[in-house]
Amino acid sequence: MAKILVTGGMGFIGSHTVVELLEKEYEVLILDNLYNSDKKILHNIHQITGKMPQFIQLDLLDEQGLDTFFSQNTDIQAVIHFAALKAVGESVRLPLKYYKNNLDSLIHILEMMLKYEIANLVFSSSCTVYGQPDSLPVTEQSPIKKAESPYGNTKQIGEEIIADTVQAYPQLRAISLRYFNPIGAHKSGLLGELPQGIPNNLMPFITQTAIGLRDNLKVYGGDYDTLDGTCVRDYIHVSDLAKAHVIATERLLAQKNATNLEYFNLGTGKGNTVLEVIQSFEKTTQQKLKYEIVHRRPGDVVKIYADTAAANQVLGWHTEKNLDDMTASAWQWEVNYRKQQAE
Ligand code: UD1
Repeated sequence: MAKILVTGGMGFIGSHTVVELLEKEYEVLILDNLYNSDKKILHNIHQITGKMPQFIQLDLLDEQGLDTFFSQNTDIQAVIHFAALKAVGESVRLPLKYYKNNLDSLIHILEMMLKYEIANLVFSSSCTVYGQPDSLPVTEQSPIKKAESPYGNTKQIGEEIIADTVQAYPQLRAISLRYFNPIGAHKSGLLGELPQGIPNNLMPFITQTAIGLRDNLKVYGGDYDTLDGTCVRDYIHVSDLAKAHVIATERLLAQKNATNLEYFNLGTGKGNTVLEVIQSFEKTTQQKLKYEIVHRRPGDVVKIYADTAAANQVLGWHTEKNLDDMTASAWQWEVNYRKQQAE
C-alpha cells in the first residue's frame, strides 16, 4: 500500500485521518512538532487500529531536518498537510508568527515534494476563505472575500501558493479541502480535540464547561438575523471529515483529478445555530450547560453553510453523522480524557 506522509498527524483532524488511513492499510508517516498535541495520541491511535504509525517529531520550519527526513523516505507517494497554527485571536495579536509558521512550512513541503518527486498534496483549507458569503449555501465558486484574520489569510495565501506552484510544475497535483466547523471525536473516545489553555472554539468550550473546567459558556450574540438570534455554522463530524482526506488522496493517487488543483467544501450542507448545538449537547449527554448570551464576537460571520454537491458527486463522499453524534462523541472524549489525566 502507498506510503502517506501526514504533517500535523497528531492534531485533532490529523489524528482522525491517520486512523482512517491505517484502517485502509496505508502506511503512514507522521511529522508533528507536538506544539498543539500530546505524544499520548500515538498510543491511542495504536489502541484503535492495532497499528503504530511511524512518528517523527519535527518542526516544518527546520529545513535541514526536513531534507534529511525526505531523503530517507523517498518512497512517499502523497502528503496530507495539516500542520498549522489555527487560533484566530492569537493570529491577530501575533500575525508574523502565523504567516511565518503556516506559509513557510507549506513552502518547505512544496519544495521537498518537488525535490523528491512526490506528486500528490492534500491541503487543509477552511471555509474562512469565503468570509461572510453574499449567498448561501457557499459553493467552491463563491467569491473569496478579504480574510478576517491573519490566520484566515494564511489559508487564502496558502491556496494561492499551491495554485502558482502546480501551474509552474505540472507534475504536482493538489486538492484543497475547505472545512466548515469540525467538531466531535472518534467513537472510541480515544481521540478528540485538545485545545491549549482556554478554548476559542465552541465545542471544546461547551464540554469543558460541562465538566467544570469553565464557569459558563458565553454565547456571542443573541440578536443576529437567524432562527434564534445566534450565529449559524455548518458543523461536521471530524471522522466524516477525516474520511474525505482518504478519498481525496486516493483520487490523486489514481490520477482521477480533473485539474491540477481542485477545491472541495467539506460540511454537511446544513446550518445550525449555537443554541441548537447547546440543545443537542444537553439532550445527548443529559448535562445541564451553564451559559449566557453576551455581546457579539468581533469578526464572526453571521451565517455560513456549505454546498456539498461537488464533494458528494465528484469525490463520492457523504457525511454519515449528525449533530447529536457530534455533541455526544465530543462529550465522551472530554470525560475519557479527564479520567485518563486523573489516573
Ligand atoms: C473559527 C474561525 C475559522 C477557523 C475555525 C477553527 C473565525 C471567524 N473563524 O470558526 O476560521 O477555521 O475557528 O479554528 O474566527 N461561540 C460562542 N462562544 C464561544 C465560542 C464560540 O458563542 O465561546 C460561537 C461563535 O460566535 C460562532 C460559533 O460559536 O458562532 C462557532 O465558533 P467557533 O467554534 O469559534 O468557530 P468559527 O468562529 O466558526
